[in-house]
Amino acid sequence: MRKRIVHLRGLALAQVPATEAPGVLPGKQQNDIPILEDAYLDWSDGVITGFGTMSELARLESEGYGLGEAPEEVLDGTGRWVLPGFVDSHTHAVFAAPREQEFALRIKGATYQEIAASGGGILNSARALAAKSETQLVDEALPRLEALMRTGTTAIEIKSGYGLSLDSERKMLRVVAELKKHSPLDVRSTYLGLHAVPTDFAGGKAAYTEAALNHWLPRLVDEGLVDFLDAFIEGGYFDLSDLSRLAEASHRFGLPLKLHVNQFSSIGAVPAAVAAGAWSVDHLEVLEPADLEALAAAWRAYSAGSLAAAGGAFQKRPTLPVALPACSHFLRLPYTPARKLLDAGIPVGIASDFNPGSAPCSNAFLLWNLACVHAQLTPEEALVGLTLHGAYALGWERQMGSISVGKQADFILTHPAPSLAYFPYRFGENHADRVFKKGVSR
Ligand code: NIG
Ligand code: FE
Repeated sequence: MRKRIVHLRGLALAQVPATEAPGVLPGKQQNDIPILEDAYLDWSDGVITGFGTMSELARLESEGYGLGEAPEEVLDGTGRWVLPGFVDSHTHAVFAAPREQEFALRIKGATYQEIAASGGGILNSARALAAKSETQLVDEALPRLEALMRTGTTAIEIKSGYGLSLDSERKMLRVVAELKKHSPLDVRSTYLGLHAVPTDFAGGKAAYTEAALNHWLPRLVDEGLVDFLDAFIEGGYFDLSDLSRLAEASHRFGLPLKLHVNQFSSIGAVPAAVAAGAWSVDHLEVLEPADLEALAAAWRAYSAGSLAAAGGAFQKRPTLPVALPACSHFLRLPYTPARKLLDAGIPVGIASDFNPGSAPCSNAFLLWNLACVHAQLTPEEALVGLTLHGAYALGWERQMGSISVGKQADFILTHPAPSLAYFPYRFGENHADRVFKKGVSR
């Protein structure tokens, strides 16, 4: 069914056909995005088929374009914008219970690490998860995905990592597999077996890592439950030797790495991740010069066209740093120095980290504001971080993340807004009036 929106005030991140479009906009390009004013958008059978200015449309129509194939529905976009749907490349959206009591403790001065050390945090979520059935977890996650879609997110990644045993990790990933089937959103699954070591695990971290990578992972892969691998590389959690074991598994199973690194400290995880060809390194609240340089070198190699120099198992994809501003806000951590990364020619992604402990928020419009206010990104840079670069972090940049002919018709029709900057400026609002997933608004 052919559909059209006309008289849009703005059409943001409108790119050339998907086959030619770059999957990533490094450095200055992240700011210099195409924006069309007084625009139209066409789509058909879930795919974007055309866009341009209203005067171009008038010219095309006068030349006979669209004859015999007039859209069956035309929506009036006067005063409104079309934005690409947000692609949230880092979430823990499957969980069993909120952790608002830990929030209350932090207000009184306890730190995230102190709460974790006393059996709260990830272990708290793991206890709650073990007690719930797969069906319960699916029933509770589906409305979260619906809420994500209402605020403009049209694709997400979801991690395991609140299981910490074969049965529970498998349960989480089976829940994600159900969400892939039953949610309109596109969903990818990440095995985060190396999230925390259960306190009572016989043999401690070494035995746990061995079990998680050599016993559980092959079974989960066999069952088709895993798209990506992740680990929490941090003092007190997992270290560089665990990362190199995970990198080896990544190679063996052909599953790309997406990693939690540098949330509280820099222990060399960024250069190691880049060398291992990780698709993304997420968090980076702490970033040392050597970390920045490792990322910059990978992107210099990419720009020079010599991808092999970027290193590792997945050499064609230099590692994307992904900022998680809701986590910085909620735990009062430093914000990822995204401005510095961009100024060094490195593209930046932005994701929610939606989870019950460190970021109980999935609204991408709020992330947009936080990235502008605290990381000094321009509205355009932050939008690219939330859309095209989210897609890149998941290997979906040819399917989504921009308004491009041939890409999925995943987009937001906003409420009226005078300019692009208005969206992060007027914060705390849901600017999405209607959200279209593969051409259908829900
Ligand atoms: O990305 N840092 C590790 N993992 C999650 C938080 C997990 C939790 O507290 O439940 C994060 O912030
Ligand atoms: Fe996370």
